[in-house]
Amino acid sequence: MKELKIESTLYVFDSLQDVPQDIKNLMNHAVKARNKAYAPYSKFNVGAAILLDNDEIISGSNQENAAYPSSLCAERTAIYFAGAKYPEAKMLKMAITAASQNNLTDKPIPPCGACRQAISEYEVNQNKPIEIYFMGEMGKVIKSNSISDLLPFVFDRSAL
Ligand code: THU
Repeated sequence: MKELKIESTLYVFDSLQDVPQDIKNLMNHAVKARNKAYAPYSKFNVGAAILLDNDEIISGSNQENAAYPSSLCAERTAIYFAGAKYPEAKMLKMAITAASQNNLTDKPIPPCGACRQAISEYEVNQNKPIEIYFMGEMGKVIKSNSISDLLPFVFDRSAL
């Protein structure tokens, strides 16, 4: 038996003030999207914004449903919209922010497993890593250089 060790490195910024200017701008788009979230059930608003290589920014928010499992996370709303609107464009960077309607969200909120899988599909297809930055409504910002650092040992098309 051999041991297979998988290592990821993430980068932590103390606050949004410390990230590069283009990421502040992208995060501001994510905040604007977050403020338009439809989250009457969880009361947890999430916004995501994606910078494309054609300089467009596509954003999205979580959209909930009375039939709870029919809801969709912000990250997938944004990434499916980007894929639908600009199928030829590569996705360069993604910013994610979350804010509870009930209490202050001051910890970075990472994308859920299903969103990681969805982001990975696009990263694998475009053969270029997608930088991901995520935060709460304030506080630390975490950067991942690639979705593969958040979802190692992914199931992808190469298995089929
Ligand atoms: N949510 C997202 O939008 N993105 C995530 O990665 C985690 C969860 C949403 C789904 C649901 O509307 C609410 O946050 C609470 O789970």
